[in-house]
Amino acid sequence: MNETVTQTNSCGIHCKGIRGQLLTFKADPFLCREGECHDYLSDGLIVIQDGRIIDVGDYGTTIKRYPGLNETDTYSDALILPGFIDCHAHYVQAPVIGSSGNTLLKWLDRYVFPMESRFRDKIFADEVAREFMAEMLTQGTTTANVFSTTFATSVDAIFEESERYNTRMITGKVLQDRNISDSLKDESAEESILLTEKLLKKWHHRGRQLYAIIPRFAPTSTPRQLELAGELYQRYMDRGVYMHTHLDEVQSEIDWVTQLFPDQPNYTEVYKHFGLVGGLSVMAHCCIVREEEWQTLHDNECGVAHCPSSNLFLGDGEFKYWEAKEQSRPVRVGMGTDVGGGTSLSILRQIGEAYKVAMMHGRSLDIMKSLYMATRGGAEALHLEHTIGSIASGYEADLTVLDLKPDRFAAWRLNFAESITEKLFVLSAIAPGLTVKATYVAGRKVYDRERKRPLMYASDPDIS
Ligand code: GUN
Ligand code: ZN
Repeated sequence: MNETVTQTNSCGIHCKGIRGQLLTFKADPFLCREGECHDYLSDGLIVIQDGRIIDVGDYGTTIKRYPGLNETDTYSDALILPGFIDCHAHYVQAPVIGSSGNTLLKWLDRYVFPMESRFRDKIFADEVAREFMAEMLTQGTTTANVFSTTFATSVDAIFEESERYNTRMITGKVLQDRNISDSLKDESAEESILLTEKLLKKWHHRGRQLYAIIPRFAPTSTPRQLELAGELYQRYMDRGVYMHTHLDEVQSEIDWVTQLFPDQPNYTEVYKHFGLVGGLSVMAHCCIVREEEWQTLHDNECGVAHCPSSNLFLGDGEFKYWEAKEQSRPVRVGMGTDVGGGTSLSILRQIGEAYKVAMMHGRSLDIMKSLYMATRGGAEALHLEHTIGSIASGYEADLTVLDLKPDRFAAWRLNFAESITEKLFVLSAIAPGLTVKATYVAGRKVYDRERKRPLMYASDPDIS
């Protein structure tokens, strides 16, 4: 249970503490020696001021530096982690999550394209954005890199809702001017890029919002649209604008790309040819990747989103972490839900699914490695590892609090687990629906499972 400890304040204005068991990563456990990549505190204190962490350490020592800390949320039977980072999702597909019975390209035609066509309607887009954000925060995700769809309305709706919570949202208009239903098709490559630049100027760096240039995937853009998208990306990349797309998800898609772009030696080279491969490029899936493509992704410091529940649901293929993290050319990898191909907005559930995907190849996936991908690894994939994804001084105070007794059965089962890592693995494997107790966004508790109004906007005067 939460309790509030009140003391005389000598910490400056708006200083707040969060106390409990905590875990954070400082280096990539795929690459560094075990025990050197994370910090775990059985009784830690995080001190927050103006949305940032200003101090963190063992409670007994740290509190001495803040004798006047006037407000502390204390959690027992819980673990405080950096807020989860979802490196790839489609908020516009939330209404078709869990639609059964087809492989990727048929599933897109049957469920996804008709649904995305509805986002011309701003009222509908607003409703979906509200639900998506509510569920994302309920599941402890504080940063998301998402697809909107063709229409400006779809982009405005999700940025507006994100702004209300003060979350960091990365999104943009989806570029698609061929091989897609007329109701979603861009009128022309030129027009689609003009609209992209207009939206970029409106939203990029407005508060915590960031813009991404989003060609859906190579088959749904003409060479002209990819060329113009690449030019725009090259112009804006050093101002922190992203490029987000799908890559090497399933064999039928790769075959289609080969047919459409016969001059390019592989799928990654198609994007590279058009100037779309760079440090702020995020590639979703990467299930069937050739060695030379991994090398290109490494050389260009691209981010990759591992989306296990989607890959299983759509029967795509499996992400091979041992290939991605090959020591001689490791790639930056974060987790993605890929909703609505993915079956949950819970990153914890993705961790459970990632384990199963790896086991299909006889590889076990250590819980610390997957938790890393879910937090600091995701920040690295987005090149935001100096800002989010860790619990350390100077970082933005995006945090999630996992309940180690989320429901009766889980609490009973966890009694048989000894170490914190064992408990976390069990939690990810069984992932009860409401495992997250609280979610903090820039220091504000926007979600509290036990509060009368669990979700609150950052600007709500009653929020703590
Ligand atoms: N490839 C192109 N579009 C999509 C999409 O919406 N979902 C998935 N999983 N793959 C895609
Ligand atoms: Zn996707």
